[in-house]
Amino acid sequence: MTADLPPTGPGPGLRSNPGFDDVELDRRTALHMRTARLVLRTLRPSDADRVSSILSQPDVGRMLGQIHLPYLVDEARRWLESHEEERARGTAYRFGAVLDDRVIGCADIGAIAEQTGELGFWFDPACWGQGYAREAATAVVRFAFAGLEIRRLTATRASDNERSARLLKTLGFRETGQRQAWSHSRRATVTQIAYDLIAPAGPFGLPGAPA
Ligand SMILES: CC(C)(COP(=O)(O)OP(=O)(O)OC[C@H]1O[C@@H](n2cnc3c(N)ncnc32)[C@H](O)[C@@H]1OP(=O)(O)O)[C@@H](O)C(=O)NCCC(=O)NCCS
Repeated sequence: MTADLPPTGPGPGLRSNPGFDDVELDRRTALHMRTARLVLRTLRPSDADRVSSILSQPDVGRMLGQIHLPYLVDEARRWLESHEEERARGTAYRFGAVLDDRVIGCADIGAIAEQTGELGFWFDPACWGQGYAREAATAVVRFAFAGLEIRRLTATRASDNERSARLLKTLGFRETGQRQAWSHSRRATVTQIAYDLIAPAGPFGLPGAPA
């Protein structure tokens, strides 16, 4: 899948020295970060069962307009198999959030182009309300600004997604508008609220990170 790429070195848009050393920057190997309570690591095809079981829950899947429900294991595996190529091309970096050796969610930067990327996240409802999504998303935003060449992050949420609204506000995102979009999971048109977050001029809370 990535045979046309050189074997080592940072991927496209990845800083070779982002100023933090707990992130593996080789495009061929897994990304890996630690937060206070979580390990954030590359999701693998072997996580397909778990990913399918989280995303198939209506409270999760209905908020993710790009997926079809039920979200089958084969579909999850195909999505997970695409991550290596996305990393190699520098178009997306997706982190599984792992608590006690169990994947409980995901925070990712997708659609990377021209120093812009899109933040996404989803978590197992069994783990909601404990700050895990906030913890993972905070680390991934820092990774985007300090580890990638991203200057602007965008995000969208369904207008009835209050938990996502609270989280985006906590992260510092500001509303930029709304639009109507088709939700595959709901099989209906929904109102989406758009957000963005501009990279701070200085280091994003990372000791030693470059501006
Ligand atoms: C969006 C989503 C990830 C938010 O999950 P969450 O658990 O509500 O978010 P957080 O991790 O930020 O947790 C915040 C809550 O934890 C509480 N909390 C408890 N302990 C905490 C701690 N140590 N640190 C921070 N917050 C803590 C906060 O007070 C807050 O409570 P509240 O929900 O009553 O206000 C989750 O609802 C989800 O997966 N939804 C479905 C998919 C989805 O909508 N994705 C986004 C599409 S735009």
